Amino acid sequence: MNVGDRHYRTIWLNEDGRSVDIIDQRWLPHEFRIVTLRMVEDVATAIRDMWVRGAPLIGVTAAYGMAIAMAADPSDASLDATWEKLHATRPTAINLRWALDEMRRLLKPLAEDRRVSAAYSRAAEIADEDVELNRAIGENGLAIIREIAAGKKPGKPVNILTHCNAGWLATVDYGTATAPIYLAMEAGIPVHVYVDETRPRNQGAQLTAWEMAGHGVPHTLIVDNAGGHLMQRGEVDMVIVGTDRTTANGDVCNKIGTYLKALAAKDNGVPFYVALPSPTIDWTVSDGLKEIPIEERSGDEVSLVWGRTASGEIAQVRVSPDATPAGNPAFDVTPARLVTGLITERGVAEASNPGLKKLFPER
Ligand code: MRU
Repeated sequence: MNVGDRHYRTIWLNEDGRSVDIIDQRWLPHEFRIVTLRMVEDVATAIRDMWVRGAPLIGVTAAYGMAIAMAADPSDASLDATWEKLHATRPTAINLRWALDEMRRLLKPLAEDRRVSAAYSRAAEIADEDVELNRAIGENGLAIIREIAAGKKPGKPVNILTHCNAGWLATVDYGTATAPIYLAMEAGIPVHVYVDETRPRNQGAQLTAWEMAGHGVPHTLIVDNAGGHLMQRGEVDMVIVGTDRTTANGDVCNKIGTYLKALAAKDNGVPFYVALPSPTIDWTVSDGLKEIPIEERSGDEVSLVWGRTASGEIAQVRVSPDATPAGNPAFDVTPARLVTGLITERGVAEASNPGLKKLFPER
């Protein structure tokens, strides 16, 4: 997508042909900074400390991390150690394991002197595939938005609520939840997006709002607790969120607070859609509540908030008493029964095992 008049992806190969450049998302929306990751340790830090985040982008970054590790040492020991090191960075998004498994499966049978070029090629392919998957998700989601628009008074926008950032910043390009929104804009369908701020890290306020503003999408930032109220008043036509891991039965794990939005949507008859590329489906897990590891992050993310001061400095302030401990579960699980549909690259699936199997019969 564009930043100003220049097109960017969120990750690309540096001109040295070995390192990888990323948009360092910690500074958005206040500063647009690009950082070069040169060593596998840099890649691990970038994922763990959320310089890059969002399930698909975490996966692509890990794939490039594997390539960077192979350039330093293409041995089996290095391959396995890199898998472990990167896999340990964030536990919930399944795209991380998917990408690491994909790289290891490809590289293990190859002779060491062939691993480096194979690793960089496959990482680049995974990045390109992500863009294609998101574009297809966009087309499939666009059909839903079009139908809702057709049932509204001409010129009235389709009001879409989204949580966290499942935008282009969470992927290589387009985003998952945002791809249908961007395509609706291109198709001239009026849309308006309610952006949940998404405490504690404010990915909605900082990233989704920045994306929407940058692409001229009419949007309104709301506190996380406003969604239910807006739904009761008929001001939300649909919800579209992303996911970090969706089970073979259609349970959806996503950023903390998603479940409450799904409950409110159900109570108010608002369709609740989840946009996801197939690498986000964990076919080995059927009960999301019991089997998906939920990342527990530092309580500092709850007690301390980043922002820009009136003098232009980017600073952190404390919002709670020094002595108050904070808990920070980063994801929750929305049971399949609350999900209207899963928007995938192959079409919209019912959130159930038969629904997913219909679109992915090979699984
Ligand atoms: O903790 P984050 O910012 O990595 O969480 C991101 C989300 O929860 C997204 O909704 C999810 O990864 C889907 S991104 C297309």
